[in-house]
Amino acid sequence: MLIAQISDFHLKPEGVLAYDAADTATPLMRAVDHINALNPRPDLVLVTGDLVDEGALESYSLVKKILTPLKPPLFIVPGNHDHKTKLCHTFPDHNYLSQTIEEGGKQYICFTIEDFPIRIIGLDTVTPGEHGGGLGSRRLAWLDNTLSNQPNAPTVIFMHHPPFASAIAHMDMEFFSGREELAHIIEKYPTVERVLCGHVHRPVFRRFAGTIANICPGIGMQLVLDLREEVPSAFIMEPPAIMLHLWTDLWGEPTLLTHISVIEERPGQYSGPHPFFGVVSPK
Ligand SMILES: [Fe+2]
Repeated sequence: MLIAQISDFHLKPEGVLAYDAADTATPLMRAVDHINALNPRPDLVLVTGDLVDEGALESYSLVKKILTPLKPPLFIVPGNHDHKTKLCHTFPDHNYLSQTIEEGGKQYICFTIEDFPIRIIGLDTVTPGEHGGGLGSRRLAWLDNTLSNQPNAPTVIFMHHPPFASAIAHMDMEFFSGREELAHIIEKYPTVERVLCGHVHRPVFRRFAGTIANICPGIGMQLVLDLREEVPSAFIMEPPAIMLHLWTDLWGEPTLLTHISVIEERPGQYSGPHPFFGVVSPK
């Protein structure tokens, strides 16, 4: 089973540059072509939020238009730049988006996908109007109960906000609320193979609660990689990329293996493939 993860499109309405600098529609179109051309083709695509930049309906219309040719089925969790009602209106056939949990008078989209060899759990970490994210007690209780229903099933959790700091200082100013409680739940279930996140627009990996958590690169733009203690919020148009999570048997054991696949700006941009030949280990 092959899972493609894509994240943070930050689409603007047609013809509008994000932050006067980024054409975010073109890399999303390239991402769709890239995924459709993969062999083997992914069984599904997980989107870890921020499909649009300002929640505008025109941007969602463009997202829908660009994603329509995507061949694998698509599953979405919202990001802090998304407008949940408009997101749901844009994808009316995505029935899982109607599975919600009420907390503090707000609805949070939380669901499971049971149709694949790996169980998929989508968590909504977004409270409208807030840049940072988290999980409240009712979503956490739902997660604990959901994991306990199938304690032996290999499982992937996907959500927008990472429950850890990234060392990119301006992104770490807001704590993930409920992160310790989340860790206590996940560490009870060793079959949680990954916690897949977005939000930080860079590839980041770390150990979290006995599993591996990762952040996916952005499609629309990447955050500047600057690990000093005080840095301004800024992005850079490095190449976008997707993550590929492969669930397979390797050397006699089942494993979930992650690769990063860089998207070309134009077909044939990267020279190759070039065959290796000659000495492989000098004596
Ligand atoms: Fe984002």
